[in-house]
Amino acid sequence: MSENPVIRVEKLNKTIRGHHILKDIDLIVEPGEVCGVVGQNGSGKSMLFKALCGLILPSAGDIWVFGKSIGKSGAFPEDTGTLIESPGFLPQYSGLKNLKLLASLQRKIGEAEIRKALERVGLDPEDRRPVRKYSMGMRQKLGIAQAFMERPRLMILDEPMNNLDAGSVEDMRGMLAALNREEGVTILLSSHNDLDIKTLCTRIHSMKAGVLSDLQGGEEADHAPV
Ligand SMILES: Nc1ncnc2c1ncn2[C@@H]1O[C@H](COP(=O)(O)OP(=O)(O)OP(=O)(O)O)[C@@H](O)[C@H]1O
Ligand SMILES: [Mg+2]
Repeated sequence: MSENPVIRVEKLNKTIRGHHILKDIDLIVEPGEVCGVVGQNGSGKSMLFKALCGLILPSAGDIWVFGKSIGKSGAFPEDTGTLIESPGFLPQYSGLKNLKLLASLQRKIGEAEIRKALERVGLDPEDRRPVRKYSMGMRQKLGIAQAFMERPRLMILDEPMNNLDAGSVEDMRGMLAALNREEGVTILLSSHNDLDIKTLCTRIHSMKAGVLSDLQGGEEADHAPV
């Protein structure tokens, strides 16, 4: 374990109305890793990702992203692009305008970079239609563009391939692999697709009923310990 992991989670617990949803979760994500989380519907993947993004507060335990404590006093992770469940956009505006509005919060990038991000996910920056007329897959692509347009050092992506057609899934896999390999972006993602996990991830965790375990060191290790 390096001294400065990108994500460090210690004994994270989340209980909602008596339901224990996340149970003593420990997680380390090192710089440059592509870390995958797999697990059945309702096992707690999105809840963990929301906690990492500062969108829900832990009931107990600690989260640090780039060494900064998350989930206390409303802190959100810095330098992190996020995509959690279905991305929400302003339905009356075009994709370009939505991303321009979001980019105006940080003022890190201008319109040229936003247009490039749209093109990279296969959306036309000149498409003037409002997002309410977008298909599910187009909305998902817009969500992915929003997650990387500011060139974050970390991306937290909850089922990024949802609603994408087969060709778009391949493009997106290639894009995420390139962001990781060429730009050193650390990625944490969840997916129900084995191929996404196999082709992209350097480390795999499994969530079962709120308990996270490391598959590489655990039940699916190639060689049982002697
Ligand atoms: N807002 C909420 N209030 C109460 N319980 C919730 C809430 N959101 C999710 N849960 C519960 O938390 C548990 C984990 O849900 P979560 O959405 O994290 O699952 P998931 O692993 O992401 O599933 P999926 O693969 O279907 O996306 C489930 O039992 C779910 O019912
Ligand atoms: Mg989920």
